[in-house]
Order: sequence, then C-alpha cells, then structure tokens
Amino acid sequence: MTGRIEQICAVLSRAHVFADIGCDHGYCTRYMLENALCDRAYISDISALSLEKAKTLLHREVAAGTCIPVVADGLDGIPEPCDLVLIAGMGGEEIIKILSRKPLPKRYVLQPMKNSDKVRRYLLQRGARIERDFTFSEGISNKKFYDLIAGCACGGDTYTEREILYGRDNLRGQSEAFLEKLTEERQKLAERLTNKLGAESRKRLSQKLMELEEITREIVGTL
Ligand SMILES: C[S@@+](CC[C@H](N)C(=O)[O-])C[C@H]1O[C@@H](n2cnc3c(N)ncnc32)[C@H](O)[C@@H]1O
Repeated sequence: MTGRIEQICAVLSRAHVFADIGCDHGYCTRYMLENALCDRAYISDISALSLEKAKTLLHREVAAGTCIPVVADGLDGIPEPCDLVLIAGMGGEEIIKILSRKPLPKRYVLQPMKNSDKVRRYLLQRGARIERDFTFSEGISNKKFYDLIAGCACGGDTYTEREILYGRDNLRGQSEAFLEKLTEERQKLAERLTNKLGAESRKRLSQKLMELEEITREIVGTL
C-alpha cells in the first residue's frame, strides 16, 4: 500500500455497507474487510480490467459473498444504499458527476486529484457537512500533495470562500503538508515572477503570491 492509500484508510470509519467507487486495485476495501470495519463491501469500477485487479486481491471475500464486484459508472450499479462511500484517485469533476446522479451517501470519503474547491462547493450546495478537509503528502524527494474531504449528508455546514479554495483544516493549521505545499507554490510563483511577463499576468501572479503569503502568516500565527 502506498502512503496515499494508508492516509485514505486512516479516515475510513465503521460502516454496515461500504462502497469503493473506482476501486481499481481494491486496497481500501481490503483494509475495510480485514479490519472488520464493514459487513459488506461493493467494489465498483467503470473498467472491467481495473475491477479484475480488485477481484484478484479480494478473491476470498468475493467467494464468501462479503465483497461484491460491479462494473459500472459511479454508484449506478450499487443495488442498495451504502452508509460509507469512498471515491478516491479521480478528478473532482468526475466525483461531482458521480455524486450528482444519486442521493448523497450517509458518509463519504473523497480524494480528488484536482478541483477540490469544486468538490467542496458542490458538497455544501447539496447540504453535506464536511468534517475532515486536509492536504497530505506522499513521497520524500518527489513529494506529491493530495486533498482529502470526508463528512456526512447531515447538513448544517458553512464555509468561507477561502476555506472552499484551500480546505478548512488546512487553514486551521492542522496540516503540515499544506504548509509545505504553500512554500512550494510560493517559490514557484516567485520564480515565475522573475521572468518577462505581460502586465496582466504579473498582476495576477503577484496577487496570488500575496494571498499565499498572507495565508501562511495566518496559519503560522495560529500554531
Ligand atoms: C487512478 S484510479 C484510482 C484507484 C483507487 N481508487 C485509488 O485511489 O488508488 C481511478 C479508477 O477510477 C476508475 N473510474 C474512473 N471514472 C469512473 C467512474 N465514473 N465510475 C467508476 N469508476 C471510474 C478508473 O477505471 C480507475 O480504475
């Protein structure tokens, strides 16, 4: 299991019925079943070839009937309500498309590869509550950053515009990885600003850099 998968698993909670949408290898479902965190798990992927990997990994559980493989787009092939749905390793827009076609799952764990801000905005519009919303990293020399958003369909949440853009736990100083990501982004912006740029681009990049500097100061001030 990679560090990314371990981070996702650490956020998964006990469920009666669990669904791993876009499961590919199926590692997260194996974690759920091996740790008796669910009674029944659906492994679903739009690609039959990808699903084969999870079926191989979980062949004993599939034979026992505790793991049910489905080739389908999103949640379309899941025949019953799931109280925990994981959608990880896909773009945010794809995640939104998948969630849009069904009632929101009772609990969700999402790990968008991009457009996390769109996912947050969408969840709040649908009346979801976001309980965990942080950036984590994987790797040492070639560090990669990922966002994780988890919560429930129980409503009553409001976000500031900045929280939508950057993630609430991140702005509350709860993610070391986010501070590292900010440092990396500030360095990249500062480097780009040493190049020859048009007035508009220079203004836009300078404003972004100032915003990131301000966010960094605010977070460091809370630590
Ligand atoms: C990069 S893999 C991520 C696998 C795993 N969830 C993870 O986080 O490591 C993305 C998987 O999502 C599947 N996928 C993409 N769009 C999908 C959709 N609309 N419904 C179901 N699966 C989808 C792909 O076939 C692929 O296996």
